[in-house]
Amino acid sequence: MALAQIGIIGGSGLYKMEALKDVEELEVKTPFGSPSDTVILGMLDGIKVAFLARHGRNHTLLPSELPFRANIYAMKQLGVKYLISASAVGSLKAEIKPLDMVVPDQFIDRTKNRISTFFGEGIVAHIAFGDPVCKNLAAVLADAIASLNLPDVTLHRDGTYVCMEGPAFSTKAESNLYRSWGATVIGMTNLPEAKLAREAEIAYATLALATDYDCWHPDHDSVTVEMVIGNLQRNAVNAQKVIQETVKRLSENPPTSDAHSALKYAILTNLANAP
Ligand code: ADE
Repeated sequence: MALAQIGIIGGSGLYKMEALKDVEELEVKTPFGSPSDTVILGMLDGIKVAFLARHGRNHTLLPSELPFRANIYAMKQLGVKYLISASAVGSLKAEIKPLDMVVPDQFIDRTKNRISTFFGEGIVAHIAFGDPVCKNLAAVLADAIASLNLPDVTLHRDGTYVCMEGPAFSTKAESNLYRSWGATVIGMTNLPEAKLAREAEIAYATLALATDYDCWHPDHDSVTVEMVIGNLQRNAVNAQKVIQETVKRLSENPPTSDAHSALKYAILTNLANAP
């Protein structure tokens, strides 16, 4: 039986959900090692959810060090069907200001050092990833944001998230290159998660929380950790309200998702003839 159908991955600044009740900590073991931290199971307005701090509760894991496969495997093991990923991002567009929220519908992969598949070692499969985010889950998330009318927050219902390797932030040349590609926000973590979630047939959507203008903006200083942290706290408060509202809406009206049958036509290996 599923322990939780809704999973939440909290990024920089969002290390716990204050409103969770009847909390239980699970040390989940997976074939890919341990997740970033214990998974927190708890009730949000009477709805069971599983929460995981992406970088660990004390922020001890670099983006390149994250156990992405263990994190998604753990969510799958718990029965998660919908995964909301809250993540701090830099803005690549003037109209997206710090504290704004973006629900990206596309990703560009600029990572170099990540294992972003469960397949291989005899099993060959290629999931469809043209639409990397679950549209229906993203719509519930965006509607939840809109319904809250959060002060100083503008909602951007779509956009392209560039996922870079890090840990250093981008150069100005890189930042301007991504802008010339029409990209919207930049972060370091969401693309491997989105791919692995799709392979695990979990619907995935990103709540991107803008903290800075990266380094391209002539009127703003280049991004620093100090700048990111300055906006994280307000973002984290807002993100928890959004997640609470999204969870409520998901449990009242669970959307269909193509992700839930992503493997139907993806596996090439003929398992019947496998040695
Ligand atoms: N996370 C928050 N701001 C960022 C930026 N400018 N680049 C990459 N990741 C970020």
